[in-house]
Amino acid sequence: MLRTHTCGELRLDCVGTPVTLCGWVDSYRDHRGVVFIDLRDRYGITQVVFQLELDSAVQALARDLRGEDVIQVSGSVVARGEGLENPKLATGQVEVRAESLSLLNKSKTPPFEPRTFDLPNEELRLSHRYIDLRRPQLQSNLILRHKLTISVRKYFDERDFLEIETPMLGKSTPEGARDYLVPSRVTPGAFYALPQSPQIYKQLLMVAGYDRYFQLARCFRDEDLRADRQPEFSQIDVEMSFVNQEDILQTIDGLISRTVRDLRGTEHPLPLPRYTHAEVMERFGTDKPDLRFGMELIDIGEIAATCGFSVFQKTIESGGRVRGIRVEGAAEKFSRKAIDELTVFVGNHGAKGLAFFRVKDGELDSPIAKFFTPEQQKAIIQRLEAGPGDLLFFVADKGSVTSAALSALRNRLGKELGLYDPNELKVAWVLDFPMFQWDEDEGRWVAEHHPFCQPHEEDIPYLETDPGRVRAQSYDLVCNGYEAASGSVRIHDSVVQQKIFSLLGISGEEAELRFGFLLNALRYGAPPHAGIALGLDRWVMLFLGNDSIRDVIAFPKTQKASDLLTGAPSEVDSRQLRDLHIRVELPGGK
Ligand code: AMO
Ligand code: AMP
Repeated sequence: MLRTHTCGELRLDCVGTPVTLCGWVDSYRDHRGVVFIDLRDRYGITQVVFQLELDSAVQALARDLRGEDVIQVSGSVVARGEGLENPKLATGQVEVRAESLSLLNKSKTPPFEPRTFDLPNEELRLSHRYIDLRRPQLQSNLILRHKLTISVRKYFDERDFLEIETPMLGKSTPEGARDYLVPSRVTPGAFYALPQSPQIYKQLLMVAGYDRYFQLARCFRDEDLRADRQPEFSQIDVEMSFVNQEDILQTIDGLISRTVRDLRGTEHPLPLPRYTHAEVMERFGTDKPDLRFGMELIDIGEIAATCGFSVFQKTIESGGRVRGIRVEGAAEKFSRKAIDELTVFVGNHGAKGLAFFRVKDGELDSPIAKFFTPEQQKAIIQRLEAGPGDLLFFVADKGSVTSAALSALRNRLGKELGLYDPNELKVAWVLDFPMFQWDEDEGRWVAEHHPFCQPHEEDIPYLETDPGRVRAQSYDLVCNGYEAASGSVRIHDSVVQQKIFSLLGISGEEAELRFGFLLNALRYGAPPHAGIALGLDRWVMLFLGNDSIRDVIAFPKTQKASDLLTGAPSEVDSRQLRDLHIRVELPGGK
């Protein structure tokens, strides 16, 4: 080895030891001929001193060092003088007095320094990701990610789960996003699809008798990207046979508690709280509520129905809803201008306006307060359990719009007003999702999760008559406003499965073509089974209290799904295309 120790290792008890360190020059100071280097590797930083009495060749070499040069230094460990310790460094009580120095590799002047606090734009960082990844912050993110995967693997291994790899080159899976396709060379005109998830394969593994499966699986989805989504991401994918929903919930409760213990050293209270989908939609307006703070949505439909404010009244008459939130003590915190800005914000979520009231002693203050009788004002105050100094916001619209707009407003205000500790993890189950959703654009029912979810027994009679009423035996794990995992009890009866396909407008023929192999497998002794998948990248992000999934992935892609470092995706040469029997036709006929 070229080194005896890492840059994060030396302490007072090493004083007097001869050592050799290797690393990158993090910073450089020349103090009247005495050169101080902060030497960095992924374990930490150690200060190295080149003194005046050193051999002149070593002196000269040391003076030429610059940021990101890679060096090897030998010397001895000495205690720093009194008052010279650096409490910010784990190695801050010692330094290395250099005796010899080799320049292992000179660096070009980097476009930015890994130690900078003033980060350059993300584009520059992504195009020089290998430098960005030298930053201690990103290094500790990736170390935590590694620890999480180890903790997950141990947890499942100790419980008899087998990690089984499923193909990357497969058939299109039905998770609802667009597929990334891979052309086949040997079968002209045919394509593989990269897996959106291992869903079908893991179900086939259940039929094959591997009753406890897990996999840290790569998934690919060609969808519109957001801060919490990547085109290529990882799942902690799980499937079990001879179990019911309760078994999956308990298994994952245990996983959460184990990983929190391993990574944070704290005990997470179990069981994780459980809510129904209907309940969270009513109380928070979203199926992935941030439960770190209150500010729940309250319905004032009854009061709105008889008030003099025509927007409210007409909304109720036409079957809509009027719902609002109470922002405690915020009456004076938001100027008219700030509220106008919030109005634009809820507008982006579909709301046509944002009514507001400041609560004074027992009455409401607002340009529209005059449309409400004193009794109605009192009733509103009572309904929202408001007190003087509170600020109330209301949206009148279709129920779904009030949910979307107010839940977004709630999240924004919770963050801006600092209503929670960003490091807290509030994890909970959301159960009983509707089986189907009506797709307005396509004018048909679509699966809310995917078409393999088992409906609740008692809802099966409504499959044909009232599909919107059918609840699936499905569950999401939500954490701090994110969907962190999702799963369901599966259909293991091919007749029920076919019925669901036909409800989704997938004809018998098409079902056979797309999923015939699964339907067939279900006919050969499929056990009852259920499963779930956790978004690994999202969990790492949540554990870190971070908002960007890109910060927990070594080589992430941009919003446009490109890799700025390698330039992928890129054109390929015409011979490759010819081999694959592909002709490219660009938009605009170019
Ligand atoms: P689902 O599609 O809900 O379920 O995905 C499971 C979890 O994966 C994470 N996730 C993502 N993370 C980053 N980038 C993305 N583009 C992305 N898409 C999803 C989320 C999500 O909760 N086969 C089913 C699971 C099952 O039923 O067992 C599935 O894939 O955290
Ligand atoms: P207007 O009568 O359009 O001047 O609106 C008066 C107030 O009611 C403004 O603060 C609007 O933002 C608000 N408002 C208008 N439409 C709605 C709505 N659908 N829901 C809630 N508030 C609204």
